[in-house]
Amino acid sequence: MPQKIIIDTDPGQDDAVALLLALASDELEVIAVVTVAGNVDLAKTTTNAAKVLELAGRADIPLYAGGDRPLGQRELVTAEHVHGPTGLDGPDLPEPQIAVQDTHGVDFLVESLRANDPGTITLCTLGPLTNVAAALNKAPDIASRIKELVVMGGAYFEVGNITPAAEFNVFVDPEAADIVLRSDIPVTLLSLDVTHRVLTTPERLARIRALGNACGSAVAAMLSFSEKFDVEKYGSAGGPLHDPCVIAYVLQSDLFSGRAVNVSVELEGKYTNGMTVVDYWRVTDRPHNVHFVRSVDDEGFYALLTERLGRLP
Ligand code: RIB
Ligand code: CA
Repeated sequence: MPQKIIIDTDPGQDDAVALLLALASDELEVIAVVTVAGNVDLAKTTTNAAKVLELAGRADIPLYAGGDRPLGQRELVTAEHVHGPTGLDGPDLPEPQIAVQDTHGVDFLVESLRANDPGTITLCTLGPLTNVAAALNKAPDIASRIKELVVMGGAYFEVGNITPAAEFNVFVDPEAADIVLRSDIPVTLLSLDVTHRVLTTPERLARIRALGNACGSAVAAMLSFSEKFDVEKYGSAGGPLHDPCVIAYVLQSDLFSGRAVNVSVELEGKYTNGMTVVDYWRVTDRPHNVHFVRSVDDEGFYALLTERLGRLP
């Protein structure tokens, strides 16, 4: 029986690769895609999600638009400096034909979690946690119905990528991240600590490009574009590949390892706002609210990703 997942996302090239990995995997049933403002504004993340669904030949999957700004009073921070003005720069993908659902993405999350048996839906979040937090505010009962929340976000040993202290997804909407991390939902966190261990090296991109299918070529073009910023910033052999780690974890958790610890979000720091404070060495009595992933078999990750991308159109 395939595992039911909902993907909440702000495409972004790495989000797009995560979506393709999920769509290529028969172990998963992607019951919907919900977009959120993050890497670029909501209109663009929604268009980009539609482009990726059509690229994979999956226009049948319902697409919902969610939050267009952070929950609180903060202004939306975007990341065109990494992802380009469209948020999906690199390949030239056709304007999508998919119709976005009328239901708001947050309402869909509530309705879908209430309509499915408790513990049957895994929620995979690839962007700011705005939609999940808004759904919890609207319907606290859904917390006990989510099988697992697998999140790309946060950092500890790697520290920040959008500020010296904070990772982008948490920084954009720290109040939302705080609500989610206090919710008692089983959370697995794929932070920068693990995503910076799966670099898009030239050899890995060459293998994806050599697949010879449209998705392989598009992914190679996406990642060749989005890695530029990080390669220049970190002087590394490739860029970190963030969001596909979430889907790879759902598919093959034994590629990863971590521990149950407390993760709290800084909401008032002058220099550290949006920082995920991870009590990795358990020096406090704060509740162990997160399975914090720290290491990954990077070769195994890319073997999985490349093989699955090869299954797509
Ligand atoms: O910090 C990396 C995260 O922020 C990724 O999800 C990327 O897509 C951006 O949303
Ligand atoms: Ca993302």
